[in-house]
Amino acid sequence: MSHDLFQAAQTAMAKAYAPYSKFPVGAALRTEDGRVFSGANIEVASYPEGWCAETTALGHYIMGGGGKITEIAVVAARMARITPCGGCRQRLAEFASADTKLYLCDETGVVETVTMGQMLPYGFQGEILK
Ligand code: THU
Repeated sequence: MSHDLFQAAQTAMAKAYAPYSKFPVGAALRTEDGRVFSGANIEVASYPEGWCAETTALGHYIMGGGGKITEIAVVAARMARITPCGGCRQRLAEFASADTKLYLCDETGVVETVTMGQMLPYGFQGEILK
């Protein structure tokens, strides 16, 4: 099951708009009912205005109806076993659970599987704000 999510992330990565960093990234996530949403990083000439592949995927996920996220895959063309940046860990944690699987990939497939809880221990919890 993880390999098709890797492939979705890789297909997304091919659509990255990363002319400044030349560091294309792809992300894909699956909901418990089997829907898959993916995204690539999108950069802007005013550099801080760009955003990550995981964030694009989350936008598609929300617009596609949201739901429980069970698996996430991330791949980068120029880095084996990329891990999501700090901001994306917090964004993913907003919609995932501590036991949500996160597949860290290279160009051939999944290199390592971790959980969101491992990726973001002691992350900020927003329950008190609701
Ligand atoms: N990037 C991602 O898309 N996801 C990450 O988790 C790390 C970084 C992107 C942002 C920027 O377009 C490029 O990689 C270089 O930082």
